[in-house]
Amino acid sequence: MSSFTFQTAPVVHFGAGCIAQLPGQIEALCGSRPLIVTDKGIMNAGLIAPVQKALTDAGLAVEIFDQVVADPPEAVVQNAIDMAKQTRADIIIGLGGGSSLDTAKVVAALAINGAQSMADIYGVAALDKGGLPTILVPTTSGTGSEVTAISIITTGETTKAGIVSPHLYADAAILDPALTLGLPPDVTAATGIDAMVHAIEAYTGRHAKNPISDMLAIEALKLLTNNIETACFDGANMTAREAMLRGSMLAGQAFANSPVGAIHALAYPLGGIYHIPHGLSNALVMPHIMQFNLTTAAPHYAELADALGIPQGGADTPERKAQQLIDFLEDLAVKVKAPRRLREVGIDSSALPELADAAMLQTRLLVNNPREVTLEDAQRIYADAW
Ligand SMILES: NC(=O)c1ccc[n+]([C@@H]2O[C@H](COP(=O)([O-])OP(=O)(O)OC[C@H]3O[C@@H](n4cnc5c(N)ncnc54)[C@H](O)[C@@H]3O)[C@@H](O)[C@H]2O)c1
Ligand SMILES: [Fe+2]
Repeated sequence: MSSFTFQTAPVVHFGAGCIAQLPGQIEALCGSRPLIVTDKGIMNAGLIAPVQKALTDAGLAVEIFDQVVADPPEAVVQNAIDMAKQTRADIIIGLGGGSSLDTAKVVAALAINGAQSMADIYGVAALDKGGLPTILVPTTSGTGSEVTAISIITTGETTKAGIVSPHLYADAAILDPALTLGLPPDVTAATGIDAMVHAIEAYTGRHAKNPISDMLAIEALKLLTNNIETACFDGANMTAREAMLRGSMLAGQAFANSPVGAIHALAYPLGGIYHIPHGLSNALVMPHIMQFNLTTAAPHYAELADALGIPQGGADTPERKAQQLIDFLEDLAVKVKAPRRLREVGIDSSALPELADAAMLQTRLLVNNPREVTLEDAQRIYADAW
């Protein structure tokens, strides 16, 4: 077996009600002036008030930045950094979906004296030092951002770019499934499929696939596929919500070490240019890229099909098992009512060449795909997905 390196966030608190650990965790990290980084959706969902009260009751002077938006643009991140400096925040709390957590991570890294500018930290390992302590509290079961060393920011008008650095790992993640009970069905479906894609792409990664990520990806995919329907249609079901949050975290730990590939590369332009939610973007291109990948990834897809116990009437070859996995995932996406065609989400066929050009810029991700993707391949895959 070849050598590998595996990293993850050092502390994870998990369980219904474990948000109660937040004040103590802030204290453990010597914080006294927390800045909560979040968005208006979280404020409106009533998730912030109890957190704010718990912190105030603990004697902490809490500030809130609630201006995060989906696919956070640089300007919004910069505003949050400015607020962290003005309020002399000494610890950053990310509360929300991936957009809030990704923003919080960059704020923590750059709200210190002598920090690099945002333009200098894109790509892998360009961020040269850690910043303020960070605690991340996810409210979606999707990105796994609470345990990844990645932030995805929208640069310029439309391009989504990744910042990848071990300095972005949170000091602690607090995963309280009670915070996800009110997540609407469409967001539950899209973010859940995002997490499934993290597991699948980690398992088939070309360069950094490793035994720990493999184990995490399989367990994540079992939890997510077994519980996504219940979580979507019986949102108050705590058992299903717990399983989804645990699954998305495990998938995050997997892909933080064996990065995602072409599904994400082709999803990003849909988010950057058309503001299609990240999970839905993945869901729309997923089956078409998996189909494209079959020539090289069939044995790994077959292993996942076996692990999930997908009924295999007559599927006696890796190719047939892999096809059954693709069909099973497509069926699940239909069941949770995720749109299945680019044309259903307002994309005109004339836009496909621009999408393919943009996807080819995601070289950081494309290199991980089990099969090389050319511009012509990307065009064909988008045409299939249209
Ligand atoms: N850092 C990583 O490792 C990583 C991985 C994958 C994706 N991402 C990025 O994360 C972002 C997507 O994150 P996301 O899919 O979690 O969505 P999001 O953070 O954009 O949130 C989507 C919407 O759901 C709302 N919401 C969140 N939790 C809620 C709750 N409990 N109840 C009610 N409403 C709630 C939010 O207010 C928002 O309106 C994208 O920018 C994507 O590129 C990052
Ligand atoms: Fe993702």
